[in-house]
Amino acid sequence: MKTVRLVAPVLFLLAFTFPASQALEKQPASDYHARRIALGNALHGGVAILFAAEEPVLDFDPYRQDSDFYYLTGWNEPGAALLIIGPTSEPERPGQAAHARDYKEILFLPTRNLRTEAYTGAKMDAATPDVTRATGVDNVEPMANLASDLNKLVADDRRVAFNVWMQPGVKAAESLLGYTAATLGSSMPASHDVTTLTMPLREVKDAGEIDLLKKVSTASIAAQREMMRSVKPGVTERTIAGKMTAVWYEHGCERPSYAPIVGTGINSTTLHYSANSATIAEGDVVVVDAACEYSMYASDITRTVPANGHFTARQREIYNVVLGAQKAAIDAFVAGKSKINDFYHRDPDSLDVAAYNYINTHSKDLHSQPLGKYWLHGLGHMVGIDVHDPAQYPAVLKPGMVFTIEPGVYIPEEKLGVRIECDFLVLPDGKLLDLDADLPHTAEEVEAAMHK
Ligand code: GLY
Ligand code: MN
Repeated sequence: MKTVRLVAPVLFLLAFTFPASQALEKQPASDYHARRIALGNALHGGVAILFAAEEPVLDFDPYRQDSDFYYLTGWNEPGAALLIIGPTSEPERPGQAAHARDYKEILFLPTRNLRTEAYTGAKMDAATPDVTRATGVDNVEPMANLASDLNKLVADDRRVAFNVWMQPGVKAAESLLGYTAATLGSSMPASHDVTTLTMPLREVKDAGEIDLLKKVSTASIAAQREMMRSVKPGVTERTIAGKMTAVWYEHGCERPSYAPIVGTGINSTTLHYSANSATIAEGDVVVVDAACEYSMYASDITRTVPANGHFTARQREIYNVVLGAQKAAIDAFVAGKSKINDFYHRDPDSLDVAAYNYINTHSKDLHSQPLGKYWLHGLGHMVGIDVHDPAQYPAVLKPGMVFTIEPGVYIPEEKLGVRIECDFLVLPDGKLLDLDADLPHTAEEVEAAMHK
């Protein structure tokens, strides 16, 4: 971040400015609190310490909160830390002061930096009036207290040292453990990976999350429709990405949920093509895998369209194989039993197997060989705060989960790639809801949308 310009007059103003309202649509504070309680219960008397994401280093990167931190707090400012003390009813042990502990949570906020705030906007710290209500966390303390609070916890019950849960690869977490060891005069064992505990919580979405996921689908569908109206021979891939970006912003989205993929012709066969530097040519198909993020929740949608608005017979044939594979997976779905993302197609309960079998038994390549070998990735993944939300794959699909079904066939020899991807919610009764139902699915629906 550039902080070299003169900012003194602005500093004076900022010191008296109440922090800007946060632009993201938040869930009620009680939703985030319930998630922290759930994590606390999973700690079995241990403690979790999570750090917020830092300000990005590069000028062109906007700030994005760490996904787990956001899930637990809804807090969208940099540099904070969250301490969750898990409840325990463990009895005292001889020679130890260990005792039962109640659940406790503390949000630590860094000291405000008025110089940085001149560039990034006003922030809160523990001294900000009404900060507990604003954050929704039971206790708010200055970040400087974190190390001494942890020291006291471990000194009070040495077993805590073996039951510390943190995000992996976070420098501040490693430093905190090292400093805590020094302040205790004894070594601190390595921490456990807290994301293994947040993952099962994040897999099942609550009502507020589902509401946000529906909103982000609406925005992403609108952009995909704009794409269908805009694709023509002579238009660049990047122009299409730009038109979609404009629609996302109009719908209040913060950013794309991943680098937009607009691949025409041979580029349609590269799975994560995102150079978007080619020009759409007559006779191409264009794979458009592009969607956005609304209030930190992601959508993930792919459609494949013909450059001139009409699929050739061969393009339509392959399109229908991919669409048929998606339908085969939907038809095979049984809540609580079906699994997703079984890359090697070994698990009979996986929807990947249903889709693969369909692809491998319909149509052929130019050498009369089956098409199974042209499908190169898993059938889908969880979607939530991250476009690839964490899960242990192959994952059993249960009510409240949101995931993609995205079969594809990529035949470089024919410059022909087709992927169709929709986001699905498993309803309480075990049925599937297609969150992208309002977007064209069939080849004919796509063609009609291109001529509007
Ligand atoms: N939509 C890109 C992916 O799921 O990998
Ligand atoms: Mn996807």
